[in-house]
Amino acid sequence: MNNAVAFDIYGTLIDTQAVLARLTDLVGDKAQAISQSWRQKQLEYSFRRGLMRDYCDFSVCTRQALIFACREHAVEAREEMVELAMQAYAELDAFADVPAGLEALHKQGMHLYAFSNGSRTAVERLLGRAGIGHYFTAVISVEDVRSFKPNPDVYAHLLRSCGLPAAQLCLVSSNPFDVLGAAHAGLRSAWLRRDPASQFDPWETQPDITLERFSDVASRLPEIYRQTMA
Ligand code: 2OP
Repeated sequence: MNNAVAFDIYGTLIDTQAVLARLTDLVGDKAQAISQSWRQKQLEYSFRRGLMRDYCDFSVCTRQALIFACREHAVEAREEMVELAMQAYAELDAFADVPAGLEALHKQGMHLYAFSNGSRTAVERLLGRAGIGHYFTAVISVEDVRSFKPNPDVYAHLLRSCGLPAAQLCLVSSNPFDVLGAAHAGLRSAWLRRDPASQFDPWETQPDITLERFSDVASRLPEIYRQTMA
């Protein structure tokens, strides 16, 4: 059985909506709306920059998206407020189910990789704060190839970094665009549907498996790799 799995970070291991409490302190009752706009625009900026070949650190997409989301909801994006919100984003918590799920995979002897649009420094800081950094063999960032998910180049970089063929690495992500990008690049893929109301895109490609709970990763991964061996 294969013994490697890669994890998306923001939205999969790290809870991007954990910034909501801090954002509420800063912008009041518009925090929920701004937080949702913020995440959507952050990803849109990364897609645009990938297509434009105009790479910047993911934190720049995050900052510019926050400013846009504030203006979209008629909230002044004061420099001090932006800095405090960005600080909160740099200190996001992991989902509560992540440590136990990673421990189960570690006990199975799995090699775990963190794979993100975020810089290696930003991701290592998040994983370290969450007390889960020690589970990972490596943190692989798209910064090394100066583009963003779902550019096939970033998944090729992931595979080169892991030293594995595509069929022997599964990417676990809660972001359908990331699952589709990985599947398109030939990797195995697992969609973690953290929001029961979320829908996967009606594309011709679908994830190998859909997980409702992070704790299911350890028990469900073998079926993916058995498919590979079939
Ligand atoms: C990532 O961590 C943005 O969730 C995406 O790469």
